[in-house]
Amino acid sequence: MLRLQWVCSVSHASFLTLGIETSCDDTSLAVLSGPREVLSSVVSSQVDLHAPYGGVLPELASRKHQEVIISLLRKVLSDGGVSNPHRDIDLVAVTRGPGLMGSLLVGAMTAKALAQSWEVPLIAVNHLEGHIFANVLAHPSLEPPFLCLIVSGGHTEIILVRSFGDYLLLGRTRDDAAGEAYDKVAKLLGLGYPGGPAIDRLAKEGDPKAFAFPVPLGHTKNVEFSFSGLKTAVLWAVRRLEQEGAPIPVADICASFQRAAVEALMSKVRLSVEMTGVKRVAVSGGVAANSALREAMASRGAWDVYLPPHELCTDNAVMIAATGYDAYARGLRSDISFSPDPSLVLAK
Ligand code: KG4
Ligand code: ZN
Repeated sequence: MLRLQWVCSVSHASFLTLGIETSCDDTSLAVLSGPREVLSSVVSSQVDLHAPYGGVLPELASRKHQEVIISLLRKVLSDGGVSNPHRDIDLVAVTRGPGLMGSLLVGAMTAKALAQSWEVPLIAVNHLEGHIFANVLAHPSLEPPFLCLIVSGGHTEIILVRSFGDYLLLGRTRDDAAGEAYDKVAKLLGLGYPGGPAIDRLAKEGDPKAFAFPVPLGHTKNVEFSFSGLKTAVLWAVRRLEQEGAPIPVADICASFQRAAVEALMSKVRLSVEMTGVKRVAVSGGVAANSALREAMASRGAWDVYLPPHELCTDNAVMIAATGYDAYARGLRSDISFSPDPSLVLAK
């Protein structure tokens, strides 16, 4: 499935960055003019490829990235009006990690080859910093210090952005990421992959109070998340109904699970605001597309909330290009011999 976003045509008087993102199961490339003007962006999703397995198969993901990346490169350059990339592209930015090693390697090797042949600098970007920049792209007025809740299939953490490039980790999940919990619960309810959007949709038709699933770590006074217990609580509820021969009220389970998951996230955002006194909160990552979380963030907190549009919530190369541009403007450069790092951390 190929999605095409934000195509506009402008003169190329300014600095052009090619962004490349292949950390998981989306192959994405983008051309950015200056800090945030998107000339073109393509995202090729592998959802259909992985759906039969109920999750991303790393080996299949890397093979698919290498199969499609060059034709996507041609497309993003032509959509962006870049007829002579050797002359027009000024910088290549690529995701270094975290992510799947095989997937990261495809993006890294493509970026290295292009930077070398076009004789331009290269910036290796932390994927999580990219998710933070998705909000900066969407909200030009958003300036540090601000808090960023990163919630995706692989991450659930709250970061204090002290300045761009200077991040403090307030806390993260002890076990599953929030998106992972959504995907696992969806799998056990037979809702397919990825599970987040399906649960989000069905939850609207269900009763959030039908099941009293626990809000994980809801009352502890540290910024730590845990979603594996919640997932197990859903599993036991489903097993019990099955043993009783009762119908499974899928929408009620989705609504009740979502209530607990969103409350778990909200309680730690509240705590982070209290602890730091910082009252600007951004949300990033695939789960930032969740309608209940968006609503709770916007209506239930004593803080200013920044949410990216849906297409910037999930993995995309626009955010990688923007992060790379900012790092370049701050004087950073990556060596051509950099290695992708599946466990790269943003802050400790
Ligand atoms: O950021 P992302 O595209 O990839 C990672 O870096 O993980 O996030 C994907 C995750 C998946 O777990 C997916 O189920 C979840 O984001 N997701 C959602 C929604 N849309 C995507 N979770 C809850 N509600 C949604 N609407
Ligand atoms: Zn991501």
